[in-house]
Amino acid sequence: MNRLELQNIAVRHDGRTILDVDHISFERGKMYGIVGPSGAGKSTLLRVINLLEKPERGSLGFFGTQVELASLTHAKGLSIQRQMGYVAQKPSMFHASVFDNVALGLRYRKLDQSQIHALVHEALQYVELSHLANQRANTLSGGEAQRIALARTLVYEPALLLLDEPTASLDPANIKIFERVIQMINQKKKTTILMITHNLPQARRLAHVCLFLFHGRIVEYSETETFFTRPACHELQDFVSGRMIC
Ligand SMILES: Nc1ncnc2c1ncn2[C@@H]1O[C@H](COP(=O)(O)OP(=O)(O)OP(=O)(O)O)[C@@H](O)[C@H]1O
Ligand SMILES: [Mg+2]
Repeated sequence: MNRLELQNIAVRHDGRTILDVDHISFERGKMYGIVGPSGAGKSTLLRVINLLEKPERGSLGFFGTQVELASLTHAKGLSIQRQMGYVAQKPSMFHASVFDNVALGLRYRKLDQSQIHALVHEALQYVELSHLANQRANTLSGGEAQRIALARTLVYEPALLLLDEPTASLDPANIKIFERVIQMINQKKKTTILMITHNLPQARRLAHVCLFLFHGRIVEYSETETFFTRPACHELQDFVSGRMIC
């Protein structure tokens, strides 16, 4: 009930196995760091969880709801997808104001105007951008746009937040704000967070548990301190020490 689980997942493209996961389980309310070399399958893993990519086989347990991914219907998928937020490396904004961009998910969920107003302003306060509510979203700087992309998902309080290298192109000040907000959301709302990052100190700072993906497989999964100080597999030892050549 209180877990996100994947079982027996296989994703193949052009005869090549991209992702091969027997079983993995994420506990509600924890923050997970996902690391691994380029091409290891990290984004594919998040896309499968977010129902953006259908695996050849496998099942997803979403905090009590069990679905077979290969035969999942649109309607059932949508009700699960609406409980997830997804922030990619490069945000794409709708051609509308910042307020309307953040409000969109609430309008889909048919909340009334006064609720929408209150929740959008709360989300903008979290990311410290209330003063930009009326600006056109396509005129935001990269760092501002990424914080608005985060506000746009937080506003509907997803049970699960999926972050794919969300701070890769941000400056230190924006990274600090972004990290503070996701830590606050994780603690205050008990949101489960899965974050891909190539920034190892960031994974160490934020995550409770870390995963290492290598050639489509999860080869290490451990508490963050153990992950960095006593990695069990030699691939992770090479990766954390900067010796890995792919
Ligand atoms: N639709 C597709 N068709 C063919 N190959 C694909 C497809 N999607 C992903 N791949 C391949 O699967 C592998 C894993 O891709 P993925 O994007 O999951 O890697 P990643 O670990 O996120 O890498 P990075 O750190 O560079 O973002 C890559 O080699 C990629 O080229
Ligand atoms: Mg990726």
